[in-house]
Amino acid sequence: MTSPLLDVRALSVEFQTTEGPLRVLRDVSFDVAPGETFGLAGESGSGKTTLGYTILQALAPAARITCGAILFEGRGSLARERR
Ligand SMILES: Nc1ncnc2c1ncn2[C@@H]1O[C@H](COP(=O)(O)OP(=O)(O)OP(=O)(O)O)[C@@H](O)[C@H]1O
Ligand SMILES: [Mg+2]
Repeated sequence: MTSPLLDVRALSVEFQTTEGPLRVLRDVSFDVAPGETFGLAGESGSGKTTLGYTILQALAPAARITCGAILFEGRGSLARERR
């Protein structure tokens, strides 16, 4: 079995807003194999762009990873413990 190129594990992300924390990603897990095409579908506001920015380490300052890990080529690019 080929090891995944990208492995997203139990990822949770929230934004700090004036009305308090807004949990946008909750326990998101998936992996993508080398050469595999991965599609992500969801209604507007469901967090697709937030997920992409998180993987690219380009999250807005108001956002933070509260839980989970992202492994690229088996190495951790981002990881946080649950607080
Ligand atoms: N900088 C931000 N500050 C606070 N909340 C934000 C911020 N960016 C996005 N959000 C909120 O995060 C949630 C997910 O937004 P996101 O843009 O990731 O959704 P999306 O699935 O890409 O939507 P669309 O299909 O419209 O592009 C929404 O509730 C949005 O209002
Ligand atoms: Mg979007």
